[in-house]
Amino acid sequence: LTTPPDIQPSRLEIVKNENPKSLPDPKSLVFGHTFTDHMLTIPWSSKSGWGQPKIQPYGPFSLQPSATVLHYAQTLFEGMKAYRDQNGKVTLFRPDMNMKRMNTSAQRLALPTFNGDALLELIKTLVKIDRHWIPQLPGYSLYVRPTMMGTQAALGVSAPNEALLFVICSPVGPYYAGGFKPVALHASTEWVRAFPGGTGGFKLGANYAPGVVPQLEVAKQGFAQNLWLHGPEHYLTEVGTMNLFVVFRKPDGTIELTTPPLDGMILPGVTRDSVVTLARGHASKSLPLTGLPEKFEINERAVTMPEVKAAAENGSLVEMFGAGTAAIICPVNKIGYLGEDVPVPTGDDDAGLGPVARVMLNEISGRQLGTIPSDWSVIV
Ligand code: COI
Repeated sequence: LTTPPDIQPSRLEIVKNENPKSLPDPKSLVFGHTFTDHMLTIPWSSKSGWGQPKIQPYGPFSLQPSATVLHYAQTLFEGMKAYRDQNGKVTLFRPDMNMKRMNTSAQRLALPTFNGDALLELIKTLVKIDRHWIPQLPGYSLYVRPTMMGTQAALGVSAPNEALLFVICSPVGPYYAGGFKPVALHASTEWVRAFPGGTGGFKLGANYAPGVVPQLEVAKQGFAQNLWLHGPEHYLTEVGTMNLFVVFRKPDGTIELTTPPLDGMILPGVTRDSVVTLARGHASKSLPLTGLPEKFEINERAVTMPEVKAAAENGSLVEMFGAGTAAIICPVNKIGYLGEDVPVPTGDDDAGLGPVARVMLNEISGRQLGTIPSDWSVIV
């Protein structure tokens, strides 16, 4: 018995797009609406393993109407960003984490796993080919979307024996239509996103579609997104497009940065991990960050909505922010909760970043752009 082949970058075939599009004005970009000239595809079958990788013009592909992805949502994805500096150097931010998480998602869906280094090598080639699409405005980047889906023509619910992995790229600015500004969230007591034993901790397409109706409902009241709660205690979990951070001032003046622990219901975000790692470095004094107080703690701990509301009332709530690849660091200015608006303090400049969010955004974007050297930034 031989093992079917893994992804083989050496077999890459490149078909250049002979009709490249003209580049958009970055200011006119709507998140995820514009795509570059090329995409990467890699077919898989249970018999022959991973097939020939191909970089070809961005465009439609054909699927059987019976393909499992169209019926049972056998699809998963990643989000990662590429940056280009003034000298033309192109980098990806912590792409190894995306490769690992994509394999974890594939395992959860009975889709094929793969060698993450091999896929990363192919993604680098794709990004290099479309590098001129990377906008160079602050906060702008090339959003890279690796995706995998079950393509077997079969209506039985089982592990597909055929799959397709593909990667597309989209030049992006701010995720939210309002630009780089604070967002209002609605704490959902009516709907849930995830539950113990469910798939909330995996990056599956199936986690996102059910959130759209709740989002449309709260949009009618002026909220950008739902804040997903869990249990009768109303534990904070995440937003669906971002992980969540809450900053408290303790009675002795210590600033406490908190985020809900990864309990299987929360997506293990790369930006979340970056914030936690930087905060730990500051708290332990191994990597002090300019702008953060000396009396500082980072705690991955359960936080409830009643705790947030009480802190807003007694003045010990410092700020809240979301963190995600698409949204980067995004301040929260208000939470709708049980028919009331809980006001959340924001910074007084246009972006509304509070004291911890501002430091984190600077530290993370510095590492993304390479102005702060770190091994998180990987040259393409
Ligand atoms: C990301 O932050 O990359 C996400 O996947 C969130 C979203 C655009 C679905």
